[in-house]
Amino acid sequence: MKIYAVRILDISEEKLNKLCLLIDLEKKCKIEKFINKKDKVRALIGEILIRVIIVQELGIKNITFEKNKYGKPYLKEYPKFNFNISHSGEFVVGAIDDKPIGIDVEEVKYIEYEEIAKSFFTISEFNYIIKNDSDICLSKFYEIWTLKESYIKCCGQGLSIPLKSFSIEVEKDENIKVVSNNEYKEHTFKLFDIELGYKIAVCSLNKEISNNIIRLEQNSLINKYIRFNLE
Ligand SMILES: CC(C)(COP(=O)(O)OP(=O)(O)OC[C@H]1O[C@@H](n2cnc3c(N)ncnc32)[C@H](O)[C@@H]1OP(=O)(O)O)[C@@H](O)C(=O)NCCC(=O)NCCS
Repeated sequence: MKIYAVRILDISEEKLNKLCLLIDLEKKCKIEKFINKKDKVRALIGEILIRVIIVQELGIKNITFEKNKYGKPYLKEYPKFNFNISHSGEFVVGAIDDKPIGIDVEEVKYIEYEEIAKSFFTISEFNYIIKNDSDICLSKFYEIWTLKESYIKCCGQGLSIPLKSFSIEVEKDENIKVVSNNEYKEHTFKLFDIELGYKIAVCSLNKEISNNIIRLEQNSLINKYIRFNLE
């Protein structure tokens, strides 16, 4: 397993358009439809990140993604190569593994967490959040949010899995489990505090999750991608 993170930098409109010519048409159209420039950059860097990782790990350059019926991308010819990406705020993150994997990053912003948790989380998740002093409740809310999101992204079924149908349990020693239909599932989880104001959660079907996040610099990632396309 490897986990990656890229801090987003602004890209000129001209460079963005040029880079969009080096990815597949569907993604290019998706990026063009975003009104917010940051959304464009995040989606583009997510795509470039996974493409560079694929070239490095699998040595293939002719990359065509398939998608399951809930939109999770995968490589048909490489069932042992599992990946997932996520973007939020100033970060794009990605994870690869030989078993299904899910990753989620969220920028911690003030929201009415109590109402949201009451509506979308289980009672035990809600209690886990609000049992804390009020200054850390928001952070605990985002922990549960990213963990839940990493789980549904690992399963690959998006929000077709009702958020209240499974419950995340964070034990005292930070051991994290998921319960669904009154049974513990085999998924393992890890939370990362990459930087102040961000939460990252990884969910895996492997027993061990890497402790390390590989930080990549946006410009060197882009240059690598351009080089791969020229070779
Ligand atoms: C689509 C979904 C899988 C993730 O959405 P998200 O959190 O907005 O987006 P992220 O940045 O974490 O991940 C997006 C990436 O996940 C991948 N992805 C798309 N569908 C996926 C799926 N069904 N399963 C796993 N990964 C998926 C794609 O690579 C996508 O990248 P792209 O948008 O650049 O193409 C889905 O879970 C969703 O719609 N979530 C809404 C968020 C929410 O309401 N959460 C409630 C709190 S628990």
